[in-house]
Amino acid sequence: MTDGDRTLTRRETLRAAVALGGSTGLAACLDLEGQPTEAGGTDRGTDRPAGTESEAELPSRQHAWNEFSRTDEHGNPVPARHHVLLLADYVGDGPVNDGDRTQAENAFRELEETYRWGSDGLLFTVGYSPAYFDRYDEPLSELVDLPQPAALAPFEDPSFDTPDLLVHLASDRASAVLEAKQALFGELETANGSEVTETIDGTVDLIDRRTGFIGAGLPAEHDDVDGVPDGAVPEDAPLFMGFKSGFRQNQATEDSVTIAEGPFTGGTTQHLSLLHTELEQWYNQDSREQRVAKMFSATHAAKNLVEGVGDNLGDSSLVAETGVADRVEDDAFEKGVVGHAQKLARTRDEGGDPRLLRRDFATVDDGQTGVHFLSLQEGITDFIRTRNAMNGDDVANVGGVGTKNNNGILQYVTTVRRGNYLLPPRSKRSFPRPS
Ligand code: HEM
Repeated sequence: MTDGDRTLTRRETLRAAVALGGSTGLAACLDLEGQPTEAGGTDRGTDRPAGTESEAELPSRQHAWNEFSRTDEHGNPVPARHHVLLLADYVGDGPVNDGDRTQAENAFRELEETYRWGSDGLLFTVGYSPAYFDRYDEPLSELVDLPQPAALAPFEDPSFDTPDLLVHLASDRASAVLEAKQALFGELETANGSEVTETIDGTVDLIDRRTGFIGAGLPAEHDDVDGVPDGAVPEDAPLFMGFKSGFRQNQATEDSVTIAEGPFTGGTTQHLSLLHTELEQWYNQDSREQRVAKMFSATHAAKNLVEGVGDNLGDSSLVAETGVADRVEDDAFEKGVVGHAQKLARTRDEGGDPRLLRRDFATVDDGQTGVHFLSLQEGITDFIRTRNAMNGDDVANVGGVGTKNNNGILQYVTTVRRGNYLLPPRSKRSFPRPS
């Protein structure tokens, strides 16, 4: 693939192919990954793992991804590199009928049989919005905390996503996320060497397709996108803002975000927002020391705790160990800046553990840099509470901190869209009833 006169590197091409989608995108990926590009025949002839035939090998939680992902040398789960989000509406009015429910389950089950459950195969979740549950006469179980999406700061004005369902596809292989979408929607005869016989085609209308990526090297290759200052994003940064995120000690566990009672026991809730990022300002206005202070804390900056993108931190951002979460107001007065991670660590649970399991990734959808901020938590109230901490109202206009200036990363981030979903346990992932 080329971009004007420039020949794209392998990684750039894979990312660009996911964004492009369709048969052209898929052919480009398969070609680069050395896979047969012809969709004919069931001889896989590839080095891609075969699917998971036995249901017993599959977890009962849709969000059980960590043990099926790679881990880095510090024990942090490494997120899959390529992501596709599919927002879709059920075609009918009112409650979903049993035929469509069975058709969807067969299609999701076939995806598992086609791809191994893992980041080297395919991981996916299917979530349902409050708007979906409005189709039923009975209300959604009150043991599920799933409000309609709302603006969560006085300075934001997001649009709200209200599709019936959201499918999140993730894989280290760009071809898998593209091919799985096309298999699901009945656009392919074979996928990963298996015949496609079950699809959700005809039961849903696709209303939006979003894409993204995370992993060392992927963001740096996108300085061709508007708003990415030339050469500014560190070569090995996994995300555009230049730092590693998602350390094991700074994430909620899969257990702790799991709904523990009621009809959706074993499920979780998912928040998805689209955040646009101002990278010109982030990299040109601020020094590295200021960036470390705004992302982590002034203590992290002064003591040089973060080297490069932060690999040296191991499995913890050190916000707890350094006690900086207790110094937010003091830092506002004394240092004139408060850090993002520092502020967010103030909303941990009673046991001192983070409430959110963040599975966000970078994007250049629509030619703009941003983050598809996707998080899992037991209830959406956990997300709202955490987001309130990010707003830093209590330190706005204290010392040198403004509503957004020097208030973590608020100045560089704009919330464009928000949506909330229930991820039922796997056994109820296909058009669940509300209770
Ligand atoms: C452009 C968007 C964002 C970027 C680049 C970003 C980046 C980071 C980084 C580098 C850390 C420190 C490393 C770590 O703990 O993993 C962190 C921590 C964290 N972030 Fe963000 N973040 C973003 C948006 C958000 C949003 C929207 C929320 C939720 C409202 C959020 C919630 C958290 C939480 C809960 C922590 C961990 C705090 C703790 O240790 O208890 N982040 N983020």
